[in-house]
Amino acid sequence: MSQVYCSNTDADHGAFVWMVKNAIVPRPIAWVSTVDSAGVANLAPFSYFAPLTMDPPTVVFAVSGGAKDTLANVVASGEFAITMALSGQEELIARTASAVDSTVDEAAAVGLSWAAGVSIGVPHPAGAGPSLECTLVKVDEFKGSHLVFGEVLGVSVDDALLRPDGRLDQDAYHPIGRMGGATFTRVDNWVRHPIPSAEEFLG
Ligand SMILES: Cc1cc2nc3c(=O)[nH]c(=O)nc-3n(C[C@H](O)[C@H](O)[C@H](O)COP(=O)(O)O)c2cc1C
Repeated sequence: MSQVYCSNTDADHGAFVWMVKNAIVPRPIAWVSTVDSAGVANLAPFSYFAPLTMDPPTVVFAVSGGAKDTLANVVASGEFAITMALSGQEELIARTASAVDSTVDEAAAVGLSWAAGVSIGVPHPAGAGPSLECTLVKVDEFKGSHLVFGEVLGVSVDDALLRPDGRLDQDAYHPIGRMGGATFTRVDNWVRHPIPSAEEFLG
């Protein structure tokens, strides 16, 4: 076996970028809903997405590759919701990534219905995973992309995904992740390893 290396100075820059995109997987997918000034709701997936801080909970996603309705709507309204898609919703995720005109409500176009937001004026797609209702913290231009930072004000979740104590039920909640390109993965198994105390670790 030998190590193969690619870098940002390679003539085949696309292959280097592809390598990074396909190595950092699975990526959680933020299914971002927004509303424009005419009241038209918009839904689009973003996998350059991460939780930032635990308390208060904050998140960030990156908008790349030119003008997108999501960015324009977030900047104009200061609000957005991030919904976690469930196993089986991969095709809906792909279809709502279509570069359609801003007058098109992607959720309605793929047969999803909207559920009203509780703490924000932006709805989220019904029949999916938990929806994080966010207020915009800031948008930073960074390396040609726009980083959208939000604070999670509340979470709206279907009670079918909850345990009797009100916490998310890992046996019922099956989110999906993005692998490279058009490939998705389904979270349908896990392993548990408690973190050892220092004594257990050393002993
Ligand atoms: C699974 C998935 C993840 C995506 N992640 C991103 C992303 O992180 N950043 C981005 O700019 N576009 C991403 N896209 C593409 C956008 O969803 C696409 O450009 C979409 O048309 C934007 O919609 P809008 O104009 O309604 O905002 C992704 C597409 C898919 C299918």
